[in-house]
Amino acid sequence: MLNRFQLARLRAFRKAAWVEQRFGGKSEEAAARVLCVASGKGGVGKSVLATNLAVLRAEQGERVLLVDFDAGLANAHLLLGVVPRHDLGHVLKGQASVEEARVEGPAGVSLLSGGVGREILVNPTRRDLDRIFQVLRPLEQDYDLVIIDHGAGMGYATIAHLAATSTLLLVSNHEITALSDAYALYKRAHAVNANIRVGMVFNRVPGESAVDAAWARFRSTSLKFLGHAPELVGWVPADEAVAHSVQTRTPVVQAAQDSAASRAIRQVASWGPIDHARTTRAFYDQARKALR
Ligand SMILES: Nc1ncnc2c1ncn2[C@@H]1O[C@H](COP(=O)(O)OP(=O)(O)OP(=O)(O)O)[C@@H](O)[C@H]1O
Ligand SMILES: [Mg+2]
Repeated sequence: MLNRFQLARLRAFRKAAWVEQRFGGKSEEAAARVLCVASGKGGVGKSVLATNLAVLRAEQGERVLLVDFDAGLANAHLLLGVVPRHDLGHVLKGQASVEEARVEGPAGVSLLSGGVGREILVNPTRRDLDRIFQVLRPLEQDYDLVIIDHGAGMGYATIAHLAATSTLLLVSNHEITALSDAYALYKRAHAVNANIRVGMVFNRVPGESAVDAAWARFRSTSLKFLGHAPELVGWVPADEAVAHSVQTRTPVVQAAQDSAASRAIRQVASWGPIDHARTTRAFYDQARKALR
Protein backbone atom coordinates (compact mmCIF):
# COMPACT_ATOMS: atom_id res chain seq x y z
CA MET A 1 0.00 0.00 0.00
CA LEU A 2 1.31 3.46 -0.91
CA ASN A 3 1.94 6.02 1.80
CA ARG A 4 0.60 9.56 1.30
CA PHE A 5 3.89 10.89 -0.10
CA GLN A 6 4.06 8.13 -2.67
CA LEU A 7 0.41 8.77 -3.48
CA ALA A 8 1.04 12.51 -3.92
CA ARG A 9 4.03 11.74 -6.13
CA LEU A 10 1.97 9.30 -8.19
CA ARG A 11 -0.77 11.91 -8.66
CA ALA A 12 1.79 14.53 -9.71
CA PHE A 13 3.33 12.04 -12.13
CA ARG A 14 -0.05 11.17 -13.65
CA LYS A 15 -0.92 14.83 -14.00
CA ALA A 16 2.42 15.59 -15.66
CA ALA A 17 1.93 12.67 -18.05
CA TRP A 18 -1.54 13.97 -18.90
CA VAL A 19 -0.25 17.48 -19.49
CA GLU A 20 2.56 16.09 -21.66
CA GLN A 21 0.03 14.19 -23.75
CA ARG A 22 -2.51 17.00 -23.91
CA PHE A 23 -0.22 19.95 -24.52
CA GLY A 24 2.78 18.29 -26.13
CA GLY A 25 4.97 18.87 -23.11
CA LYS A 26 3.96 22.48 -22.53
CA SER A 27 2.00 22.85 -19.35
CA GLU A 28 -0.43 25.72 -19.64
CA GLU A 29 -0.84 25.58 -15.88
CA ALA A 30 2.77 26.48 -15.14
CA ALA A 31 2.25 29.94 -13.79
CA ALA A 32 5.27 30.90 -11.74
CA ARG A 33 8.07 33.07 -12.97
CA VAL A 34 11.46 31.95 -11.69
CA LEU A 35 14.38 34.10 -10.58
CA CYS A 36 17.71 32.55 -9.61
CA VAL A 37 20.01 34.48 -7.27
CA ALA A 38 23.61 33.30 -7.48
CA SER A 39 27.21 34.42 -7.08
CA GLY A 40 30.69 33.18 -7.75
CA LYS A 41 32.15 34.14 -4.41
CA GLY A 42 30.50 33.34 -1.09
CA GLY A 43 29.22 35.81 1.46
CA VAL A 44 28.47 38.61 -0.99
CA GLY A 45 24.82 38.99 0.00
CA LYS A 46 22.74 36.55 -2.07
CA SER A 47 20.58 35.46 0.83
CA VAL A 48 20.05 39.00 2.09
CA LEU A 49 18.96 40.03 -1.40
CA ALA A 50 16.84 36.94 -2.13
CA THR A 51 14.94 37.16 1.17
CA ASN A 52 14.30 40.89 0.90
CA LEU A 53 13.25 40.65 -2.75
CA ALA A 54 10.85 37.88 -1.80
CA VAL A 55 9.34 40.03 0.96
CA LEU A 56 9.03 43.11 -1.26
CA ARG A 57 7.37 41.18 -4.06
CA ALA A 58 5.01 39.50 -1.58
CA GLU A 59 4.14 42.90 -0.10
CA GLN A 60 3.08 43.93 -3.60
CA GLY A 61 0.56 41.10 -3.62
CA GLU A 62 2.45 38.37 -5.41
CA ARG A 63 2.38 34.79 -4.19
CA VAL A 64 6.08 34.20 -3.63
CA LEU A 65 7.96 30.99 -2.91
CA LEU A 66 11.57 31.28 -1.77
CA VAL A 67 13.55 28.08 -2.28
CA ASP A 68 16.76 28.04 -0.26
CA PHE A 69 18.94 25.89 -2.45
CA ASP A 70 22.08 26.58 -0.49
CA ALA A 71 21.23 23.07 0.49
CA GLY A 72 22.92 21.82 3.62
CA LEU A 73 24.09 25.33 4.53
CA ALA A 74 20.80 27.12 4.38
CA ASN A 75 20.18 30.37 6.20
CA ALA A 76 17.26 32.11 4.53
CA HIS A 77 15.08 30.93 7.43
CA LEU A 78 17.31 32.85 9.84
CA LEU A 79 17.04 36.00 7.75
CA LEU A 80 13.25 35.65 7.62
CA GLY A 81 12.98 34.81 11.31
CA VAL A 82 11.16 31.49 10.82
CA VAL A 83 11.83 28.03 12.19
CA PRO A 84 11.08 25.32 9.61
CA ARG A 85 10.49 21.88 11.08
CA HIS A 86 11.29 20.20 7.79
CA ASP A 87 13.49 21.02 4.83
CA LEU A 88 14.38 19.80 1.34
CA GLY A 89 16.45 17.02 2.91
CA HIS A 90 13.36 15.58 4.58
CA VAL A 91 11.46 15.96 1.33
CA LEU A 92 14.17 14.16 -0.60
CA LYS A 93 14.21 11.31 1.91
CA GLY A 94 10.43 11.00 1.79
CA GLN A 95 10.17 12.04 5.47
CA ALA A 96 7.99 15.07 4.72
CA SER A 97 5.92 16.39 1.86
CA VAL A 98 6.70 19.80 0.35
CA GLU A 99 3.46 21.03 1.93
CA GLU A 100 4.81 20.06 5.35
CA ALA A 101 8.21 21.58 4.64
CA ARG A 102 6.85 24.95 3.48
CA VAL A 103 6.71 27.61 6.15
CA GLU A 104 5.16 31.04 5.99
CA GLY A 105 7.39 34.02 6.62
CA PRO A 106 7.04 37.81 6.64
CA ALA A 107 4.50 39.27 4.20
CA GLY A 108 3.25 35.74 3.54
CA VAL A 109 6.37 34.56 1.72
CA SER A 110 6.55 30.76 1.56
CA LEU A 111 9.94 29.33 2.34
CA LEU A 112 11.33 25.92 1.53
CA SER A 113 14.51 25.59 3.52
CA GLY A 114 17.59 23.79 2.29
CA GLY A 115 18.39 22.51 5.76
CA VAL A 116 21.51 22.98 7.82
CA GLY A 117 24.26 20.36 7.94
CA ARG A 118 22.20 17.78 6.12
CA GLU A 119 24.65 15.57 4.30
CA ILE A 120 22.17 14.40 1.68
CA LEU A 121 21.88 17.89 0.23
CA VAL A 122 25.50 18.99 0.34
CA ASN A 123 26.46 16.97 -2.73
CA PRO A 124 23.23 15.89 -4.35
CA THR A 125 23.52 13.34 -7.11
CA ARG A 126 21.82 13.79 -10.44
CA ARG A 127 19.15 11.39 -9.22
CA ASP A 128 18.61 13.40 -6.03
CA LEU A 129 18.22 16.60 -8.02
CA ASP A 130 15.85 14.95 -10.44
CA ARG A 131 13.68 13.87 -7.52
CA ILE A 132 13.72 17.30 -5.92
CA PHE A 133 12.83 19.01 -9.21
CA GLN A 134 10.04 16.51 -9.75
CA VAL A 135 8.63 17.18 -6.29
CA LEU A 136 8.89 20.95 -6.68
CA ARG A 137 7.31 21.00 -10.13
CA PRO A 138 3.65 21.05 -8.97
CA LEU A 139 4.38 24.12 -6.80
CA GLU A 140 4.76 26.24 -9.93
CA GLN A 141 0.99 26.30 -10.14
CA ASP A 142 0.67 27.74 -6.63
CA TYR A 143 2.89 30.81 -7.01
CA ASP A 144 3.42 33.89 -9.14
CA LEU A 145 7.13 34.04 -8.45
CA VAL A 146 9.69 31.48 -7.32
CA ILE A 147 12.98 32.95 -6.08
CA ILE A 148 15.86 30.51 -5.72
CA ASP A 149 18.70 31.38 -3.37
CA HIS A 150 21.79 29.42 -4.38
CA GLY A 151 24.99 28.46 -2.66
CA ALA A 152 28.10 30.24 -3.90
CA GLY A 153 30.01 28.94 -6.90
CA MET A 154 29.46 26.56 -9.75
CA GLY A 155 28.15 23.45 -8.05
CA TYR A 156 26.20 20.94 -10.09
CA ALA A 157 22.88 21.97 -8.53
CA THR A 158 23.39 25.65 -9.36
CA ILE A 159 24.41 24.93 -12.94
CA ALA A 160 21.36 22.68 -13.44
CA HIS A 161 19.13 25.57 -12.31
CA LEU A 162 20.95 28.08 -14.50
CA ALA A 163 20.56 25.83 -17.52
CA ALA A 164 16.80 26.04 -17.03
CA THR A 165 16.12 29.57 -15.82
CA SER A 166 15.29 32.50 -18.02
CA THR A 167 16.55 35.05 -15.49
CA LEU A 168 19.48 35.30 -13.11
CA LEU A 169 20.51 37.92 -10.59
CA LEU A 170 24.27 37.73 -10.32
CA VAL A 171 25.51 39.16 -7.02
CA SER A 172 28.99 40.46 -6.37
CA ASN A 173 30.81 43.04 -4.35
CA HIS A 174 33.28 45.47 -5.90
CA GLU A 175 36.43 43.52 -5.05
CA ILE A 176 38.53 41.90 -7.74
CA THR A 177 38.21 38.44 -6.18
CA ALA A 178 34.41 38.55 -6.22
CA LEU A 179 34.38 40.06 -9.72
CA SER A 180 36.63 37.33 -11.05
CA ASP A 181 34.39 34.60 -9.58
CA ALA A 182 31.26 36.39 -10.84
CA TYR A 183 32.75 36.47 -14.33
CA ALA A 184 33.47 32.73 -14.19
CA LEU A 185 29.86 32.04 -13.20
CA TYR A 186 28.48 34.41 -15.83
CA LYS A 187 30.52 32.68 -18.51
CA ARG A 188 29.38 29.24 -17.35
CA ALA A 189 25.74 30.32 -17.17
CA HIS A 190 25.90 31.43 -20.79
CA ALA A 191 27.66 28.25 -21.82
CA VAL A 192 24.80 26.12 -20.47
CA ASN A 193 22.01 28.54 -21.39
CA ALA A 194 22.55 30.84 -24.35
CA ASN A 195 19.26 32.67 -23.75
CA ILE A 196 19.70 33.44 -20.07
CA ARG A 197 19.04 37.04 -19.04
CA VAL A 198 21.52 38.14 -16.42
CA GLY A 199 21.25 41.18 -14.19
CA MET A 200 24.16 42.17 -12.02
CA VAL A 201 23.80 43.56 -8.51
CA PHE A 202 26.69 44.94 -6.52
CA ASN A 203 26.18 44.58 -2.81
CA ARG A 204 27.89 45.89 0.27
CA VAL A 205 29.81 48.51 -1.65
CA PRO A 206 31.36 51.62 -0.10
CA GLY A 207 29.97 54.02 -2.72
CA GLU A 208 29.19 54.83 -6.32
CA SER A 209 32.77 55.27 -7.51
CA ALA A 210 33.64 51.72 -6.38
CA VAL A 211 30.63 50.43 -8.34
CA ASP A 212 31.55 52.42 -11.44
CA ALA A 213 35.08 51.04 -11.45
CA ALA A 214 33.96 47.45 -10.77
CA TRP A 215 31.21 47.58 -13.37
CA ALA A 216 33.49 49.07 -16.03
CA ARG A 217 36.00 46.30 -15.41
CA PHE A 218 33.39 43.51 -15.46
CA ARG A 219 31.58 44.85 -18.51
CA SER A 220 34.66 45.42 -20.64
CA THR A 221 36.07 41.98 -19.80
CA SER A 222 32.75 40.31 -20.66
CA LEU A 223 32.39 42.20 -23.93
CA LYS A 224 35.97 41.55 -24.93
CA PHE A 225 36.05 37.82 -24.25
CA LEU A 226 32.41 36.77 -24.57
CA GLY A 227 30.92 39.41 -26.85
CA HIS A 228 28.12 40.19 -24.38
CA ALA A 229 27.66 41.50 -20.85
CA PRO A 230 24.96 41.39 -18.18
CA GLU A 231 22.73 44.35 -17.36
CA LEU A 232 23.57 46.47 -14.36
CA VAL A 233 20.47 46.26 -12.16
CA GLY A 234 21.68 48.28 -9.22
CA TRP A 235 23.90 48.45 -6.18
CA VAL A 236 23.31 48.19 -2.47
CA PRO A 237 25.59 50.10 -0.12
CA ALA A 238 27.26 48.61 2.91
CA ASP A 239 24.75 49.57 5.56
CA GLU A 240 24.65 48.92 9.29
CA ALA A 241 20.90 48.49 8.97
CA VAL A 242 21.51 45.19 7.12
CA ALA A 243 23.80 43.78 9.81
CA HIS A 244 21.27 44.84 12.45
CA SER A 245 18.37 43.27 10.55
CA VAL A 246 20.31 40.00 10.28
CA GLN A 247 20.85 40.01 14.02
CA THR A 248 17.21 40.67 14.76
CA ARG A 249 16.06 38.20 12.08
CA THR A 250 13.82 40.70 10.36
CA PRO A 251 14.29 41.56 6.67
CA VAL A 252 15.83 45.00 6.37
CA VAL A 253 13.08 46.21 4.02
CA GLN A 254 10.68 45.76 6.92
CA ALA A 255 12.98 46.57 9.84
CA ALA A 256 14.44 49.76 8.36
CA GLN A 257 12.31 50.77 5.39
CA ASP A 258 14.05 54.09 4.83
CA SER A 259 17.61 52.84 5.15
CA ALA A 260 19.89 53.26 2.16
CA ALA A 261 20.05 49.48 1.74
CA SER A 262 16.25 49.13 1.70
CA ARG A 263 15.86 51.87 -0.89
CA ALA A 264 18.45 50.19 -3.09
CA ILE A 265 16.90 46.74 -2.70
CA ARG A 266 13.49 48.19 -3.65
CA GLN A 267 15.04 49.38 -6.89
CA VAL A 268 16.45 45.90 -7.57
CA ALA A 269 12.99 44.41 -6.87
CA SER A 270 11.53 46.55 -9.64
CA TRP A 271 13.91 45.18 -12.29
CA GLY A 272 11.62 44.63 -15.29
CA PRO A 273 12.79 41.14 -16.32
CA ILE A 274 11.51 39.73 -13.00
CA ASP A 275 8.03 40.36 -14.40
CA HIS A 276 8.78 38.31 -17.50
CA ALA A 277 10.94 35.55 -16.05
CA ARG A 278 9.20 32.70 -17.81
CA THR A 279 10.47 29.82 -19.85
CA THR A 280 8.54 28.25 -22.72
CA ARG A 281 7.91 25.17 -20.61
CA ALA A 282 7.66 24.74 -16.86
CA PHE A 283 10.90 25.61 -15.11
CA TYR A 284 11.29 22.37 -13.18
CA ASP A 285 10.55 20.30 -16.29
CA GLN A 286 13.27 22.25 -18.03
CA ALA A 287 15.64 21.73 -15.08
CA ARG A 288 15.02 17.98 -15.14
CA LYS A 289 15.77 17.97 -18.84
CA ALA A 290 19.01 19.82 -18.17
CA LEU A 291 20.13 16.95 -15.96
CA ARG A 292 19.99 14.42 -18.77
N1 LIG B 1 24.49 45.67 2.12
C1 LIG B 1 25.04 45.14 3.22
N2 LIG B 1 25.54 45.96 4.20
C2 LIG B 1 26.06 45.44 5.32
N3 LIG B 1 26.17 44.12 5.56
C3 LIG B 1 25.72 43.27 4.63
C4 LIG B 1 25.13 43.73 3.42
N4 LIG B 1 24.75 42.64 2.69
C5 LIG B 1 25.11 41.58 3.41
N5 LIG B 1 25.68 41.93 4.58
C6 LIG B 1 26.23 41.04 5.60
O1 LIG B 1 26.88 39.98 4.98
C7 LIG B 1 26.46 38.75 5.51
C8 LIG B 1 26.44 37.71 4.42
O2 LIG B 1 25.34 37.95 3.58
P1 LIG B 1 24.56 36.76 2.89
O3 LIG B 1 24.35 35.65 3.84
O4 LIG B 1 23.37 37.33 2.22
O5 LIG B 1 25.64 36.32 1.81
P2 LIG B 1 25.54 35.06 0.82
O6 LIG B 1 26.09 35.50 -0.50
O7 LIG B 1 24.17 34.52 0.83
O8 LIG B 1 26.53 34.06 1.54
P3 LIG B 1 26.72 32.49 1.18
O9 LIG B 1 27.59 32.44 -0.02
O10 LIG B 1 27.37 31.94 2.40
O11 LIG B 1 25.37 31.93 0.92
C9 LIG B 1 25.10 39.01 6.14
O12 LIG B 1 24.90 38.20 7.26
C10 LIG B 1 25.14 40.46 6.49
O13 LIG B 1 25.54 40.60 7.84
MG1 LIG C 1 23.47 32.58 1.22
